Amino acid sequence: MQILILAGGKGTRLRPLTLHTPKPIVPIANRAFIYYQLDLLRPLNVDGTLEVLLSLSYQPRKIEETLTHEELGGITIRPIVEPHPLGTAGAMRNIRSRVTGTLVVFNGDILTDIDLRPLLDRHRARRAAATLVLVNVADPSAYGVVELDAEQRIRQFYEKPAPGVTSASSINAGIYLLEPEVIDLIPDGREYSFEYDLFPRLLASGLALYGEVTNAYWLDIGTPERYRQANADVLHGRLRRYPPESSPSLTADGSLVDAEATLKSGVSVIRSVVGANCYLEDGVSVVDSVVLAGSRIAEGSRLSSSIVGRGVHIGSHCVLRDAIVGDKSVVTDFSRLG
Ligand code: GTP
Repeated sequence: MQILILAGGKGTRLRPLTLHTPKPIVPIANRAFIYYQLDLLRPLNVDGTLEVLLSLSYQPRKIEETLTHEELGGITIRPIVEPHPLGTAGAMRNIRSRVTGTLVVFNGDILTDIDLRPLLDRHRARRAAATLVLVNVADPSAYGVVELDAEQRIRQFYEKPAPGVTSASSINAGIYLLEPEVIDLIPDGREYSFEYDLFPRLLASGLALYGEVTNAYWLDIGTPERYRQANADVLHGRLRRYPPESSPSLTADGSLVDAEATLKSGVSVIRSVVGANCYLEDGVSVVDSVVLAGSRIAEGSRLSSSIVGRGVHIGSHCVLRDAIVGDKSVVTDFSRLG
């Protein structure tokens, strides 16, 4: 079984967090994001032949260095660094010579607890060329919307449709089951997008294309709001795979505070994540926020709905609300951000 994780994007919407940390390894609940995807794929490794192809382009070494042997648990990972960014479909074309059968493609920014096995069974039973996983969302206007017919065949695709263009609310979840003939439609050696370039070509090709709507937990972690949401959802057990009881380090206030963080007197941390070697001085309060490793917050500062990168120094009596502070930044005393 072969999986391709598309992990080469620049993650611009998650800046400044992604300036020094590519999106596939930003920490979610103090653990590099890519491990959540590998957890999901592990059950597919029934016969020990699961091969995960990791297509990289932006800061590839940092991703490769993060993947440690113990955490991989018997999965073979093959990093493939692109000569230049090839886009979501160009990345598939780039690994075509390695593909031996059905390829499962995963966007490298999807947090989900979907079970892929029944989808693979139906994909094969229907002899589909491509099956797209879809999720229903309340506001599909920021996504690729997919219209299906009664047999679940894909009828039309609208990328970020204006209101009223379609009544469909199923969006492309960034998980595809593809046969090699689909990859053959992608031109070699140039940037090519799944959404804008390959999809219209696929519709015109007459190949059997199906959509599968899933009710599983699904979140694209690619914006600051959704990044915080992903941390909160893992903490609060909203993914079946990570029930709260599996996290004995959760505090009574629903927070995850690394054992190597120091909290001085009167510190309150509520529904938040605090990373290793953080130092929170007297009276600091952190609510609905994520503070990454090695950051220091001086006395009396208050953070809510904020993200603090690695090695940040926040001075005393600051107020951060809906703020995002990049790695190694210094925020001076009495600042107001957000
Ligand atoms: P934004 O810049 O915030 O849009 O994020 P992004 O760069 O990750 O782009 P987007 O969210 O559209 O990408 C969807 C998935 O495709 C992510 O997992 C990206 O890592 C991946 N991706 C995007 N562009 C490339 C590329 O050129 N090469 C590879 N290998 N992956 C890519």
